[in-house]
Amino acid sequence: MARSGTVHVCSACGHEEPRWHGRCPGCGEWNSLVEEARAGSSGRSPARAGGAGLKPIPLADVHAPELARLLTGIGELDRVLGGGIVPGSVVLIGGAPGIGKSTLTNMALGNLASAGHRTLYVSGEESTAQVRLRAARLPAGALTVPAIAETDLETVIATLERERPDVCVIDSVQTLDARELSGAPGSVGQVREVAGRIVAVAKRERIAVLLVGHVTKEGALAGPRVLEHLVDCVLAFEGERERTYRTVRAIKNRFGSTNEAGVFEMRQDGLVEVLDASARFVDAATRAPGSVVLAAMEGTRPLLVEVQALVTPSELVPPRRVVNGFDRNRLALVLAVLTRHGGVPLASSDVFVNVVGGVRVDEPGADLAVALAVASAARGAPLGPPEASTPLAAFGELGLTGELRWVGHPERRLAEARKFGLETVIAPAGSDGHDAATLRDALTVALPQLAVRQRARVAA
Ligand code: TYD
Ligand code: MG
Repeated sequence: MARSGTVHVCSACGHEEPRWHGRCPGCGEWNSLVEEARAGSSGRSPARAGGAGLKPIPLADVHAPELARLLTGIGELDRVLGGGIVPGSVVLIGGAPGIGKSTLTNMALGNLASAGHRTLYVSGEESTAQVRLRAARLPAGALTVPAIAETDLETVIATLERERPDVCVIDSVQTLDARELSGAPGSVGQVREVAGRIVAVAKRERIAVLLVGHVTKEGALAGPRVLEHLVDCVLAFEGERERTYRTVRAIKNRFGSTNEAGVFEMRQDGLVEVLDASARFVDAATRAPGSVVLAAMEGTRPLLVEVQALVTPSELVPPRRVVNGFDRNRLALVLAVLTRHGGVPLASSDVFVNVVGGVRVDEPGADLAVALAVASAARGAPLGPPEASTPLAAFGELGLTGELRWVGHPERRLAEARKFGLETVIAPAGSDGHDAATLRDALTVALPQLAVRQRARVAA
């Protein structure tokens, strides 16, 4: 226990220490401990003195009623949540500013209100007039949602206790102010206090809460990161602001799987679910050099996306590696394997890779598609047999020795590619596509002209 009324909280991991340390004992980050006023209400409850202890019950005897879920009416969101919102649960929706968090939560509340549920929209960022302007662009129910514009935590909690809605949106956790803390709203201590108090009232009054949280592009801002353990679900709302496609992904879910992702498009009239994402991306794909279709998985759902690459002579040392929608370090790995095991020299070339449509693919299954797109761009030759009429599709993870490794759900990826009429799919051995054991095998199928030329060179 600290002697004073303050505690030192790590702004990187949220770890608490009574005294200041130069290095956080929790995560090892330097210079990250920040002094915060000790939270009175949400802190750990002291052990009850003289308690008699509890009698544990076998789990089989625990009463666990099947909870009727609150459906937001936004199919993609309900699916990611595991079939709707669980009453009394707290869902944190994190995303960069402008991604559409307010739009999504407002639409969800509108649908819930239309379905007869009691709702409340608490805006700490915008005036009710601004919230109304947005709601006017959304489907009809949005305008029926009761709203308040308030940043004072006490007032918000008092309103929740008085109104006792079934579902409430708090937009955002960073703007509410717990007055007993001296830190500015949005600081680690404040955000934790605000979230802790909201979680407590949600459980007590059985109010489902959608808690909006801002994260920076790097996902680093004080807030969502330190809240993950407090809430029941964490959803990440991702995508590039300038692009139309956005995905909602579950990072943590106490009531469902974390493998699900929903795809949305931002339109004039709000966010629209994209149910035929594959169709759109494949229609746009061509057989131009540097283009390939990746048979990806978004959670349990297959998704076809186009991956494009451009390779140009570089004047820079080191040359440029620019990537959108795919991990930078992963790209470095793929390029190294491509150079070493695929015989595609890239040391003096700038390489640009883009996953079309603003989609982000975060799975090892994307490696092969990226490698093929780059190889095709480097050679200036389209992928696939010369007589092919559809773009080449691919998936698979690249190993450091140039082998092509198995990735999850090959049958679903292949089925999706076939559904959209893609003739050639290069897949890891055992997947039942155009199986390839190594990157070199894959290149032989994907760039047959190149293979012939190489063979000729070997023979010469
Ligand atoms: P918003 O939901 O306010 O983002 P966040 O709460 O995550 O900061 O909306 C993001 C952007 O979406 C905003 O710049 C305007 C745009 N937008 C549309 O294109 N169509 C719409 O119907 C709405 C409501 C917003
Ligand atoms: Mg907003």
